[in-house]
Amino acid sequence: MSAVIDVRGLWRIYETAAGHTTALRGVSLQVARGEFLAIMGPSGSGKSTLMNTLGCLDRPTAGSYRLEGVEVSELSEDDLAHVRSSRLGFVFQSFNLLPRATVLRNVMLPLVYSDRPVRDRELAAWRALRSVGLPEEHYLHRSNELSGGQMQRVAIARALVNDPAIILADEPTGNLDTATGEMVMRTFQRMQRRGKTIILITHDPEVAAWADRTVHIRDGRLFSDEEERAYLAGLARVEEGAAAGPSPTSSAAQKNRSRLLGVPCL
Ligand SMILES: Nc1ncnc2c1ncn2[C@@H]1O[C@H](COP(=O)(O)OP(=O)(O)OP(=O)(O)O)[C@@H](O)[C@H]1O
Ligand SMILES: [Mg+2]
Repeated sequence: MSAVIDVRGLWRIYETAAGHTTALRGVSLQVARGEFLAIMGPSGSGKSTLMNTLGCLDRPTAGSYRLEGVEVSELSEDDLAHVRSSRLGFVFQSFNLLPRATVLRNVMLPLVYSDRPVRDRELAAWRALRSVGLPEEHYLHRSNELSGGQMQRVAIARALVNDPAIILADEPTGNLDTATGEMVMRTFQRMQRRGKTIILITHDPEVAAWADRTVHIRDGRLFSDEEERAYLAGLARVEEGAAAGPSPTSSAAQKNRSRLLGVPCL
């Protein structure tokens, strides 16, 4: 299996007027071609920062990121834009559609800088919409005339229109009811069967269950599924110890908790 994404020791430190925020702390991740990976983590843990970095929308402060064998952290802005438009497709939680433009026009949008004739671009958009199962009668509707599930399928079609190798989706079912979310997940599954690599961020374990593999991000660090389970089991033991009140083992429990949480024992 060749790694289409190979990230090693990635750091992202934001500098703001209020000081530094370290969003990624030495993240390493390999994703195989055709793999469906879910990334889970609490709010503020660094999910979107990681996604923006993988999507070449943001540069890491330190570390290496090889995308299909190319070290992208060294590419110029123009080259990055080319990688984004030719290799990557993005699906956002809030759909990010132009509300007054037609469905077809929304899906054609990523092709705006390509030199393909309009007819050709329309055909590509039409094909992408067919592939996500949106009925043809909606293609000339304005996007704000659609339901949430239909909008998300338009957003997925837009991510697919340039036939990207990799699809990055940040909470794509976050605004959808369960049944509609399931329909959207089936669409991703179909895309995977067609050979796409899919990386999906979610808060929802049921959504993550659709993926081949899940990794967890906490405080800018990445953990495998097994590491996360061991961590939560350890934390539960510590909480039990704390609930039982002071005991001869409570200071040991305190130390264990500090070790697990990565904070000093006070
Ligand atoms: N542009 C920015 N400037 C400064 N700090 C930022 C910026 N973007 C994110 N951060 C900080 O980096 C950390 C990680 O943020 P990020 O948006 O990656 O989290 P997240 O896991 O996507 O959260 P959520 O689930 O709420 O979307 C947070 O502490 C956040 O405040
Ligand atoms: Mg986020």
